[in-house]
Amino acid sequence: MPHVISKAVIPVAGMGTRFLPATKAMPKEMLPVVDKPAIQYVVEEAVSAGLHDVLMITGRNKSAVENHFDKVGELEAVLRSKGDDEKLDKVRYSTDLADVHYVRQGDPLGLGHAVLRAQMHVGHEPFAVLLGDDIIDERDALLTRMLQVQADLNTTVVALLEVDPSQTHLYGIATVEPTGEDDVVRVTGLVEKPPPGEAPSNLAIIGRYVLRPEIFEVLERTAPGKGGEIQLTDALQELAQGPAWTGGVHGVVFRGRRYDTGDRLDYLKAIVQLASDRGDLGPDFRGWLREFVETLP
Ligand code: G1P
Repeated sequence: MPHVISKAVIPVAGMGTRFLPATKAMPKEMLPVVDKPAIQYVVEEAVSAGLHDVLMITGRNKSAVENHFDKVGELEAVLRSKGDDEKLDKVRYSTDLADVHYVRQGDPLGLGHAVLRAQMHVGHEPFAVLLGDDIIDERDALLTRMLQVQADLNTTVVALLEVDPSQTHLYGIATVEPTGEDDVVRVTGLVEKPPPGEAPSNLAIIGRYVLRPEIFEVLERTAPGKGGEIQLTDALQELAQGPAWTGGVHGVVFRGRRYDTGDRLDYLKAIVQLASDRGDLGPDFRGWLREFVETLP
């Protein structure tokens, strides 16, 4: 019987130096994307795929993330006394969203090390990992599809996206073989951030993984790789080439809407796209945007 997956792990220990000075005293996960912190989109995605148990791997300076998912009694009392139910709902929503746990990463030794810190909490079940820099549109159920593939094949699953060949040096890149299903591939090899011109394909890992607990044993012996960090990609490469009992690695090729909030330009694009699509702000924003575009040189 396959395990029903209920746990999501979200590494949030990064320093966010690309957004300085905004991230000097505030975690990058709290940067607003329209009117919600980026991290809330990611937790909402986990919950809508049925993962209500969320473990965040945190670091110093991340107390704002914890506060965001905690109850804020004083604020609720003020809003209640004013009868402002709409705002009260917004405040309570992130408190009640998921059962959120925290563990500190300690040394910043890389994504593989961050995932290894989840071992005690996760135990012997498969689990999902979501990276906060990627927001997947709520209309495109990528994680649900990945969970289904994991259950069907009892394998490790990564989300893959075709990227422009000029971008492959920014991602883990997969070598793949087709399967009988259009959106599922078998991953035969993985390489973390290959130098420009040396990527084996343009299929990039985006920040969604469904892992089997065997990953922990592999991560324990994974030596530091690219950038001197313990890379999740290197551990996955071992599984992709490992014995059949590990179930190998499969990729779900994502063709939906993904918003990257990892650097400043992509973050701006994400805000414009998501704001344009909003039922409340969208019509006014799109109208203004059309006029604004006309004024551009
Ligand atoms: C990490 C992973 C990389 C993956 C990427 C997706 O890199 O190491 O394999 O492609 O996330 O966003 P980072 O962007 O944290 O440097």
